[in-house]
Amino acid sequence: MQQANLGLIGGGTVGSGVYHALTRNAALLTSRIGVGLGVRKVAVKAFDEPRPYSIPRRLMTTTWQEVVNDPEVHVVAELVGGTSVARTMILEALKLGKPVITANKALLSKHGEELFATAQRHKTNLYYEASVCGGIPIIKSLREGFVGNQITHLYGIVNGTCNYILTRMSREGAEFDAVLKEAQALGYAEAEPSLDIDGFDAQHKTGILASLAHGFWVDPKDIYVEGIRSVTRQDMEFAAKLGYTIKLLGMVKMTAQAPANRKSDRRQVQVSVYPALIPSSHVLASVGDVFNAVFVRGDVVGDTLFYGRGAGKDATASAVLSDFADAVLDLKCGSVNRVPAFVSHEVNGSVVPIDKVVSRYFVRLRVADIPGTLARITRILGDARIGISSVIQPEGQRETFVPLILMLHESPYGAVCAAFEKIRALQVVKGKPVILRVETFG
Ligand code: HSE
Repeated sequence: MQQANLGLIGGGTVGSGVYHALTRNAALLTSRIGVGLGVRKVAVKAFDEPRPYSIPRRLMTTTWQEVVNDPEVHVVAELVGGTSVARTMILEALKLGKPVITANKALLSKHGEELFATAQRHKTNLYYEASVCGGIPIIKSLREGFVGNQITHLYGIVNGTCNYILTRMSREGAEFDAVLKEAQALGYAEAEPSLDIDGFDAQHKTGILASLAHGFWVDPKDIYVEGIRSVTRQDMEFAAKLGYTIKLLGMVKMTAQAPANRKSDRRQVQVSVYPALIPSSHVLASVGDVFNAVFVRGDVVGDTLFYGRGAGKDATASAVLSDFADAVLDLKCGSVNRVPAFVSHEVNGSVVPIDKVVSRYFVRLRVADIPGTLARITRILGDARIGISSVIQPEGQRETFVPLILMLHESPYGAVCAAFEKIRALQVVKGKPVILRVETFG
């Protein structure tokens, strides 16, 4: 193979970023992989849509089928997002036996099994490095670099918007709403921010990483998700006093628990997304602003850390180029399935229900500052066999209801929720308790 051409579906921020990067580094790439590389066609929404880098008009079409069906397009990159037309585009290309590159985490999360199966049936491959943490080569690392490891723990700061908001709240002592508004004005957060701040984007990415690490397809419905809307300045301040920083973590952890009625060798994995207190001295606590990081612990390699930009035209383009190079090398060597997109290897694995997941906790309550309050609360926790590791009630409060912070020893989430339902019903407790997990990476 002398020359391989990419067909881009999507000519906006990411698509034009890929065009620009490929044009800039085509000679370098060619010298590295021994095949000439170029862009043959780009399907765009409109010829004059705003884009950060220009694309020659002669390459553009507004019909995506022209890209997929062009015999001179050897590899197709789907960069439009969404979960309906994008699915059709990818399926059409795969059915023609063309390798496909996608950055579409929502689509993979929803239809991953179908897409990977279609790729395999048509003896081609689906490449998705850009779908998780843009500029960080975490998919390739998990699939190839750590192929000899059991991935026992994976913790990811995988959403830049949330990390930016939490970083500013922590640095400036600002409230969530104010920082979100500013982030929206600066273009760091979407006008409709729910996908990011309610944790769904992190859910898609964490599910993909979990599936890849453990070899069974994790249904997004099984991933417990909490976003960052409920994190307050006060939580940040108390966490800092106790030596912790709050981060939104995507977590994939092997657990020792096996359900009583099932085979004990059945793989049980915690897969969840929630804001957690992490020690301020831990390396993940220093990952600030829009940066992403993934901490992976393998049973052979030990602890590793990946850091970089998770999104944006250039970081995403870097991942798409890496996939393009892989796709072309596979075509050149006739080895399309040498490294399959996804391999089932723990087909009996399952996700542990969140109620059974054991963690430590930070709980903030508003309570009446009167004799007996603490005794009533601790009695309920004691009866539930939930241990308290520390208690803070800051002095100098003038209101009738004052903050009370409890740090709890390891307990199953279900037991903690049940106990705090009872505590919430006490007359001396006002409002809903804030319950955040504490992750110490043990
Ligand atoms: N909106 C995402 C983020 C990037 O803030 O990290 C795309 O997944």
